[in-house]
Amino acid sequence: MQYSDKVMDHFANPRNVGEIEDAQGVGVVGNAKCGDIMKMYLEIDENDVITDCKFKTFGCGAAIATSSMATELIKGRTVKEALALTNSAVVEALDGLPPVKIHCSVLAEEAVKAAIADYYKKIGREVDFSLESADERYEH
Ligand code: FES
Repeated sequence: MQYSDKVMDHFANPRNVGEIEDAQGVGVVGNAKCGDIMKMYLEIDENDVITDCKFKTFGCGAAIATSSMATELIKGRTVKEALALTNSAVVEALDGLPPVKIHCSVLAEEAVKAAIADYYKKIGREVDFSLESADERYEH
């Protein structure tokens, strides 16, 4: 299996690892098949901008690399922009992933969505989006 330099870099030096105490949004997702779990924490200001974001992933190298890249892609963005983040965009930003590892990137997309759904619930906003990845390449 061949991994890109970017995947290896984000796996070896993951960005934004950790937790945020009293985060406005926290999302936990898992893949029942491989057993990997991803937890995403979002700090969101009054303008709906994600000012900070951290993650903890108990999973494979690709899951760590995709969560790391996902945090980089949504930091400084609005919640709406973060909701538009697809797993394919994460894969693309990492210069690709082997097909059997695509589901790891799906976890990253779903973790972001789960954290935003948690934020919406906390502030009393309707969760008007699907918590599942829209990407059809999702391989269980
Ligand atoms: Fe399941 Fe990577 S093998 S998230």
